[in-house]
Amino acid sequence: MRIAVLGAGGFVGSHLVPRLAARPRTEIHAVYRSLGKLAGGLPGVRRIEADIAEPGLIDELTRKVDVVVSLTALCNPALYNTRPLDVIDASFTDLLPVVKMCASRGRWLVHFSTCEVYGREALDASGRPMRTMIEDETAMFLGPVHRERWSYAAAKQLLERVIWAHGTHAGLKHTIIRPFNVIGPRMDFIPGVDGDGIPRVLACFMHALMTGAPLLLVDGGRQRRSFLDVGEFVDAVARMLDQPRACQGEILNLGNPRNDLSIRQLARALADAYQALRPDAPAPRLETVSADAFYGAGYDDSAIRIPSIAKATRLLGWRPRLALAEILPGIVTDYLARYEGRAGAPALAAVGGRRAR
Ligand code: UGA
Repeated sequence: MRIAVLGAGGFVGSHLVPRLAARPRTEIHAVYRSLGKLAGGLPGVRRIEADIAEPGLIDELTRKVDVVVSLTALCNPALYNTRPLDVIDASFTDLLPVVKMCASRGRWLVHFSTCEVYGREALDASGRPMRTMIEDETAMFLGPVHRERWSYAAAKQLLERVIWAHGTHAGLKHTIIRPFNVIGPRMDFIPGVDGDGIPRVLACFMHALMTGAPLLLVDGGRQRRSFLDVGEFVDAVARMLDQPRACQGEILNLGNPRNDLSIRQLARALADAYQALRPDAPAPRLETVSADAFYGAGYDDSAIRIPSIAKATRLLGWRPRLALAEILPGIVTDYLARYEGRAGAPALAAVGGRRAR
């Protein structure tokens, strides 16, 4: 199988490419602006440091490969209300040519969408609450347009619909994956060390822990997420590639419904994992911050999102097993190895930029 992985140097790509390279008879074209996070020397992997919008690149790739795995996006809620035009381009506009080329050349498009398409919480078609988010049943409940947080989810949802329409009306072979808060080593950045702005929640909390600053809970941290280990995630993707007939034309949630917890609980669990490795560090403190102060106007949030993984289990024989307490030590170790002693304190002013108060 010849596979192009777009976004191969990002967090998920850096785990997925080595996993796919271990499959027999697999050739991979690993594409990203920067492949620094991707291990070198992997057998059968051709490294291409380029932007997917580079003229001719998608044309060339779709001539050569059987499968295109598309991972590229700006996946960070701090950007959705501050750089919505870039977010929409990265999740929609830049990917339209990929969809069209895959359709016209008969390639299998494996597209990574997001659990954010379900919106604020799981509702059925009549607006009644559901416990889990089910791929082909749950409604999509986004906030109003001035709540720019939903620019990403809306762009991702529209691309799903474009892919689906190409599948139904133009013969595209496709699979859409909706990941639910996948976490693991090599995730994200620390502001002032290898990036700027506000990273994802784990990096925010690790930054605070490593510098003795308070862990900031946006609006009190009552919002909930279900966390999935990245190793289990890429295992599911590898299984999916082995089952083209069963998985083409399907939308699949990949998440761990048993790791559903509030962000406040996540902060406590991460602090525990950190203290186990650094018992002499200052005792972690949790503080509440308003969403406006932290992310700026236009932010909004998902209250709870628990995946139904019945379809993934049925089609892939896959079921995630790792509890959060088993996943966190590896993540803390990775952050310590990459950043300990290098990070300055995250003043809210530095983290939240001009909107902080
Ligand atoms: C993310 C991204 O929007 C998507 O790119 C991605 O597809 C999806 O989740 C996913 O991982 O599946 P979200 O979970 O809201 O969205 O982003 P995180 O940065 O992981 O934040 C989780 C929660 O923690 C949010 O409610 C946020 O307000 C809160 N938070 C974040 C804090 O309480 N404190 C912080 O310091 C940072």
